[in-house]
Amino acid sequence: MTDRYAVFGNPIAHSKSPRIHALFAQQTAQDLTYEALLAPLDGFAAAVRDFAVAGGRGANVTVPFKEDAFRLATRLTSRAQAAGAVNTLVFGADGIVGDNTDGAGLVRDLTANLGIAIAGSRVLLLGAGGAARGTILPLLERQPLELFIANRTAEKAAALAAELTPLAPAGAARPDGGGFEALAGRGFDLVINATSAGLVEQSLPLPTGVFARGSLAYDMLYGRETPFMAQARAAGARIADGLGMLVEQAAEAFEVWRGVRPDTAPVLAALRQELA
Ligand code: ATR
Repeated sequence: MTDRYAVFGNPIAHSKSPRIHALFAQQTAQDLTYEALLAPLDGFAAAVRDFAVAGGRGANVTVPFKEDAFRLATRLTSRAQAAGAVNTLVFGADGIVGDNTDGAGLVRDLTANLGIAIAGSRVLLLGAGGAARGTILPLLERQPLELFIANRTAEKAAALAAELTPLAPAGAARPDGGGFEALAGRGFDLVINATSAGLVEQSLPLPTGVFARGSLAYDMLYGRETPFMAQARAAGARIADGLGMLVEQAAEAFEVWRGVRPDTAPVLAALRQELA
């Protein structure tokens, strides 16, 4: 019997996840299908339940349903709990497990694919929405020297830092947060853009000094150069987009479902070529 998986979102037509999981399945000789399913904005839970009843084994969840998935799960992994959002569901006899592989995917892309040492480095996270939140504890686990969260709405960044501080691993840096103006005179080794500003082609009010010599500027968006990437490039930083994070969060979900870890390098290379 072929096992069924899917990704739920709205919109969903352009999702790369079916392609990624098909390549993983082929590579690891796993007998499964993975489809993209459009859920109505007010009908996410019903769509997921229908899929599970029809024999679905698990699902990914993308915009705008990650908080709905968090509420739908009957059990949450600790990383989903900390993220406040779920991107991976596992359907079992005893209920629906909600997990979150986004933060692990980002950290793996940074460390394994891009060769970045997070330990001991100065990390700046831009944004304080759902995308930013899920990455904070996985980043802190890697023991950066500091983690500053900067956001257009400064209070949101400060509140997020305060909320996650008690959950930080022992010995980890204490996260701090504020507005973009707090960045004046400060430099970072790793600058991660988790805002949605690039979706609407907007740049961020960053002093050029935030990109320290030899820094990496990472945008979670992919497929084109965002204004953030252009800013970073002009400031002399090395830049990376979020395609690797997309592939790595998928690999992590694949392992949760199948107990097998796919080799992401050829899949990332294939996607990169298809996007070119
Ligand atoms: P996501 O789930 O993608 O994180 P979100 O929760 O709506 O989406 O959060 C969007 C993030 O992008 C927020 O940090 C938002 O800043 P505010 O909290 O001040 O709204 C940030 N953002 C969106 N558009 C932006 C822009 N043009 N400039 C700066 N920050 C922006």
